[in-house]
Amino acid sequence: MRVLITGAGGQVGADLIEVLAGRVPAAGAATTLMGQPPVSEGEFEVIACDRSALDVTDAERVRSVIVGAAPDVVVHLAAYTAVDGAESDPEGARAVNEGGTRAVADAATEVGAHLIYVSTDYVFSGDLGRPLVESDATDPKSVYGATKLAGERACPPSASIVRTSWVAGISNRTVINLAVESAAANRPLRFVADQIGSPTASADLAAGLVTFIRKQPAGVFHLAGAGGASWRDVIAYAVEQAGGSGEMVTPIQTDELDPPQAATRPRFSVLVSERLDELDATPLPDWQEGIGRLVHAIKARSS
Ligand SMILES: NC(=O)c1ccc[n+]([C@@H]2O[C@H](COP(=O)([O-])OP(=O)(O)OC[C@H]3O[C@@H](n4cnc5c(N)ncnc54)[C@H](OP(=O)(O)O)[C@@H]3O)[C@@H](O)[C@H]2O)c1
Repeated sequence: MRVLITGAGGQVGADLIEVLAGRVPAAGAATTLMGQPPVSEGEFEVIACDRSALDVTDAERVRSVIVGAAPDVVVHLAAYTAVDGAESDPEGARAVNEGGTRAVADAATEVGAHLIYVSTDYVFSGDLGRPLVESDATDPKSVYGATKLAGERACPPSASIVRTSWVAGISNRTVINLAVESAAANRPLRFVADQIGSPTASADLAAGLVTFIRKQPAGVFHLAGAGGASWRDVIAYAVEQAGGSGEMVTPIQTDELDPPQAATRPRFSVLVSERLDELDATPLPDWQEGIGRLVHAIKARSS
């Protein structure tokens, strides 16, 4: 099966390239394939397009690259992911997240490829205060969330729309790196305790995407680390996994942040799925398992 990946230079892209080659990414585990068979040698031919190879805001180029490659599946990861930056650059965010997705969707449709679009928990307001399923109403509070939702709507009905949340991987510098460094330096941290979501290891998400590439289901699916936590609790857990004390991570409220975050984020956006059963697939592992592996991989890489 020929798989073209947009945004392949990002953290999920880096892990997906490993998984589709039949390797376990640095922070991954062989057991995260949602109960599905392992990737066999030669099962996937991967065309990995980073931004320099394929800028999705260039619709002509998108068409020529995708039609020329004639993939069976397009995994569309390219996105404007600077959540706070998008607030002061809504046109830039819209051009990538909505316009870019429309161009990719049109080209995939033209060539008969199945489209997988990775979306976000930020399409929700998070005001319900309970875990969110695929059929819950969307109501984004940020430019990033609104433009990613517009991207969902630019996809054809046959596409798989895979919403995930709070992704951290080995190839990006994330708050998990900060936790590891702070544990080593015994440096105190402050993180918000009133934003609760589903932390997801990029390697686990990448492994989960294999099921969508193989089965090509239509519609919206939630795919994130199992369970929920506040940012404060995620960072405290990461500090402990790195050998420090979780006590050094002080819980604060969002309105205590100085400077304040430009984008409004959901207060409660734990993602759960009412649809994974349709794929005969098990959920992703608990978030602690994925984040724990990531901490140990970051430590191993820096030692
Ligand atoms: N990270 C999260 O917490 C999270 C949560 C929910 C959903 N998601 C979604 O998951 C997907 C993968 O995200 P990620 O975590 O891997 O983020 P990432 O590391 O920021 O990767 C996104 C990639 O898209 C590329 N890109 C930006 N503008 C582009 C353009 N015009 N044309 C082509 N490529 C472009 C970026 O390139 P540059 O590095 O050159 O900018 C980057 O390599 C995205 O669709 C994102 O919206 C992420």
